[in-house]
Amino acid sequence: MRRQVALVTGGASGIGRALAAALSARGHDVVVADVDGPAAKAAADTLGAQAVELDVTDRAAFADVVRSVSGEHGSLDLLFNNAGIGVGGLVDELGDEHWDRCLAVNLHGVVHGVQAAVPVMTAQGSGHIVNTASMAGLMTVPMMLPYTTTKHAVVALSRALRAELKPVGVRVTAVCPGFIATPLLDNLNPGMAANDATRSVRQSAALLQPRGLPGPDELAEAVLRGLAKDKALIVFPRAQWGVVAAQRWAPALVDRMIDQQVRAYRARRTAP
Ligand SMILES: NC(=O)c1ccc[n+]([C@@H]2O[C@H](COP(=O)([O-])OP(=O)(O)OC[C@H]3O[C@@H](n4cnc5c(N)ncnc54)[C@H](O)[C@@H]3O)[C@@H](O)[C@H]2O)c1
Repeated sequence: MRRQVALVTGGASGIGRALAAALSARGHDVVVADVDGPAAKAAADTLGAQAVELDVTDRAAFADVVRSVSGEHGSLDLLFNNAGIGVGGLVDELGDEHWDRCLAVNLHGVVHGVQAAVPVMTAQGSGHIVNTASMAGLMTVPMMLPYTTTKHAVVALSRALRAELKPVGVRVTAVCPGFIATPLLDNLNPGMAANDATRSVRQSAALLQPRGLPGPDELAEAVLRGLAKDKALIVFPRAQWGVVAAQRWAPALVDRMIDQQVRAYRARRTAP
């Protein structure tokens, strides 16, 4: 049987790296793409994969990578639009750089991947586009406004794109992880002004997932199981469906918890 060809953005670390490892273990031809070229190479070398340096905010570069991967391998079967950054803080702590960078990587990066892959996969009459969104794409998430905005957009884009591409044989899935133990949680606002948000993210994680955070490998296995069933939305851990249900059926309770979190963050910020 022909080997499946998979391109994973943000594949040098965390969830992307775990996806690349799980795909390699299943015998797929994997291309690890990351803005951090040396880290992509290091990850790819350990997995027996191929590495490419790619900044997903660069539309033309993304199109070039998709063209060269599908040209070289004869197809592109799986595109994981996974690269993303965490941006946190209250709205008045966030400047233009936070908004622009987050929209560029988390939203435009996905759009660029979609624009590059759709013509290739449509011509093939097959393929699967997998967009890493977040529980922040389904829930009210204050103190991470640019992040939650982009992740809601990625969920919406994925659902609508899935409907558009179904008749031509191309699948689309949005992945909505809860908190996962990766470097992202300790590296909010990378390269930008720091604030108190990392601590607040860790506190939210402890509140919402009191049994601790799963690792990216567990998530990757759940994602591949979900893709085999062609799920439109993969929520992980499964218990996070309870959080979605709570927001829907007990909104006043959830609003109260959120209000407490925001007040605690504001109080800490003004504390001497
Ligand atoms: N860790 C979590 O709790 C969590 C939860 C929900 C969703 N997510 C999402 O999962 C995805 C992966 O995050 P992670 O937790 O593995 O983070 P991570 O920081 O471990 O990995 C992110 C990778 O993306 C790369 N990257 C950043 N900007 C890029 C760009 N412009 N172009 C290409 N690559 C770029 C980084 O170099 C890094 O290798 C993100 O989209 C994130 O929003 C993470």
